[in-house]
Amino acid sequence: MAEFEQLEAVRLDAETGELVLLDQTLLPGEVAFLRLRTVESLWRAIRTLQVRGAPAIGIAAGYGMYLAARHSTAATYADLRRDLVTARGHLAASRPTAVNLFWALERMVACLDRNSPLPVPDIKQALLAEADAIREEDVRMCRALGEYGLSLLRPGMGILTHCNAGRLAAGGCGTALAPVYAGHERNYNFRVFADETRPLLQGARLTTFELHAAGVDVTLICDNMASMVMKKGWVQAVLVGCDRVAKNGDVANKIGTSGVAILANRHRIPFYVCAPSSTIDMACPNGDAIAIEERDPDEITTMWYQNRMAPAGIGIFNPAFDVTDSELVTAIITERGIARAPYGEAFKAFGLHASRGL
Ligand code: MRU
Repeated sequence: MAEFEQLEAVRLDAETGELVLLDQTLLPGEVAFLRLRTVESLWRAIRTLQVRGAPAIGIAAGYGMYLAARHSTAATYADLRRDLVTARGHLAASRPTAVNLFWALERMVACLDRNSPLPVPDIKQALLAEADAIREEDVRMCRALGEYGLSLLRPGMGILTHCNAGRLAAGGCGTALAPVYAGHERNYNFRVFADETRPLLQGARLTTFELHAAGVDVTLICDNMASMVMKKGWVQAVLVGCDRVAKNGDVANKIGTSGVAILANRHRIPFYVCAPSSTIDMACPNGDAIAIEERDPDEITTMWYQNRMAPAGIGIFNPAFDVTDSELVTAIITERGIARAPYGEAFKAFGLHASRGL
């Protein structure tokens, strides 16, 4: 466990100034790190899911903006701003759904502007401090969210999760898995069911990897087995992460999440969404307004197989996320507290308001 805890998904090497990412496309077979110096290479790493999960993408984007500043030859604030706005535009085009990406980019530009009277080297230092702050806040967020989540759970529960919203997806111990880790520390003896999460297998490759390494009892199931596992009475709570929560409590998360919510509703199992406040988009009225990423059809037909598993020439639809209606969500667990419907009111009571500018 201790060894795994040192496997940070995203960090900056302070000596070399490189952004170090645990390459998640190679897990669970290989633990390897990427060392990035450019915005272009980070764009590719986000796009190809070498770094993935909403909070981790936000942290990486913060450091990406610092990389842009570090390598900028600008001598004035105005020129540095021009370079950073270019970097922001590039990174913003990597993936559309996880709002943490846009939140972090916006936060870095706000930091730049706040420090505009300073000499350029000092502005660069301020940007590094801001990127570090995004990461450190995320670590604290995960802990706090984990405690709130744990307050809803009881020892011995069966917990079903979808995709990976754990340590690999965040700066700290994750979002949906944070209550699991908090309970594990206190011998709650949870039994976790991890959906494999077609087509990119984040559940099979990443969630089982990190829970098993931590000593948590984890059982892998195919996505289409969730209903059976629930019917058997093996699941007492569903915990999932999210990529964007709309003001009304509609939730975008990994494709398949809405089906899990419908099943949980049918089986009267509470369906909890774990969402840092950076994932709540108060500027987004409801799920219909959330941009859903569509990815390469090869991820479905070819990627995991020796031979192509569908005839050529057919139509293929590969959305990376879906939206779960807020009425299927029992509660949204944040680092500021547990929100219940009406969600807009609850989010306002947490001090959240629309401020996104991208
Ligand atoms: O496509 P991915 O792997 O980036 O999707 C990740 C998810 O959907 C996670 O559940 C979500 O980002 C929450 S991560 C704490």
